[in-house]
Amino acid sequence: MSRSAHPAGPRHADVLPEGHYSAPPTDLNALDAKVWAETVTRDTDGVLTVGGIDVKRLAEEFGTPAYFLDEDDFRARARSWRTAFGDDADVFYAGKAFLSRAVVRWLHEEGLNLDVCSGGELATALSAGMPAERIAFHGNNKSTDEIRRAVEAGVGRIVLDSFQEIVRVAHIAQELGTRQRVQIRITVGVEAHTHEFIATAHEDQKFGIPLAGGQAAEAVRRALTLDGLELIGIHSHIGSQIFDMSGFEVAAHRVVGLLRDIRDEHGVELPEIDLGGGLGIAYTSDDDPREPHEIAKALTEIVTRECDAARLATPRISVEPGRAIVGPTAFTLYEVGTVKPLDGLRTYVSVDGGMSDNIRTALYDAEYSVALASRVSEAEPMLCRVVGKHCESGDIVVKDAFLPGDLAPGDLIAVPATGAYCRSMASNYNHVLRPPVVAVRDGEARVIIRRETEEDLLRLDVG
Ligand code: LLP
Repeated sequence: MSRSAHPAGPRHADVLPEGHYSAPPTDLNALDAKVWAETVTRDTDGVLTVGGIDVKRLAEEFGTPAYFLDEDDFRARARSWRTAFGDDADVFYAGKAFLSRAVVRWLHEEGLNLDVCSGGELATALSAGMPAERIAFHGNNKSTDEIRRAVEAGVGRIVLDSFQEIVRVAHIAQELGTRQRVQIRITVGVEAHTHEFIATAHEDQKFGIPLAGGQAAEAVRRALTLDGLELIGIHSHIGSQIFDMSGFEVAAHRVVGLLRDIRDEHGVELPEIDLGGGLGIAYTSDDDPREPHEIAKALTEIVTRECDAARLATPRISVEPGRAIVGPTAFTLYEVGTVKPLDGLRTYVSVDGGMSDNIRTALYDAEYSVALASRVSEAEPMLCRVVGKHCESGDIVVKDAFLPGDLAPGDLIAVPATGAYCRSMASNYNHVLRPPVVAVRDGEARVIIRRETEEDLLRLDVG
């Protein structure tokens, strides 16, 4: 596509409208290592490259939009969580962030366990060879069929989310002549500092059994009496995209309080405590996530201190990071289709994807960064809103970001940190086809999830 000239958009700080952005960066071509996957860099021509392959070549071969995932970065992050927690703890990767058979194999090879939350995720995990005993099964409304398949497969733990489910799982396990290892998910009443839709430890929501009013204690009482269940621990997940450890501190304090009460009432010390996932990543340069070893140290210290105070042996800790492992490892590559400058406001940059490949901006008001990928430019920064091709004005990918003022149709732009909850929440809205996920490693790119085709859409339409 040819690069057409267009009137200059709003560019200078004194004419910028209100918005979620800081001042224009001094160098628009620079790549902040905080938000880009490890092997992403620019080649001598200024073209963005990942794993040694430039995005023009990738776009030619795989098309746009597409997610490009840096496999080495994924493995390194998975390994760093595993190493940080060591052999006395377990790391369960939360498959909901992004799951495919290749990912399952990488996790298996790197020694991680897997958290699944549906029959589909369970099937993917098992089909790629994850040993069932290393799988945890979550969900607030697992069907009896899903529970049966999980028990039959021999999953290492089912995380019980309601009073009804305690009975359901016990019944199914007994029917199958087995004893299922379970944890009980409780809500500890912590307000996580995150978006309302991704906060999960306050009581007024669908997940878990409230600690308040003795409900969690009652759930434990029931679970301990049922032959089909082996209660191994208590689970708490306080929310997502969390930077502040104080929420985990309060959660651990309350979970350990329950473990102490269980010991006092039943004479049983439960051997495990799961603190969930939710650790934040950098979507923009303003975010400062902690390293896994700092998180591991902080969580282990908190639990040990609380257990010492309650005179309990420290239980085995597990965590369930999803976003913190896969989020930073991928970017989405789009081609610019139209550029519409609105004087005194901003420039609308329309790309060939949108809310069908990244719903997070529309759903959570999430912030993202963006960079011109197919070339560098010395043009002045222009305040942009990157929008998709869907029939909806809320179809925004990046709400406010600066791109070079000479941006034009045909340019490729890349949005970093889209590894988590983008492909996994992708939709076919407007019958737009879901993009592929391409894993890049050592100069080689390979499709791990192929692009959807119109044939795929029509195959489901059997009317
Ligand atoms: N464990 C449990 C029980 C969870 O419910 C979740 C996320 C995780 C672990 C992993 O959380 P992570 O480390 O990935 O933050 N779609 C939203 C996030 C929903 C998370 C749901 N549960 C988003 O795009 O931000």
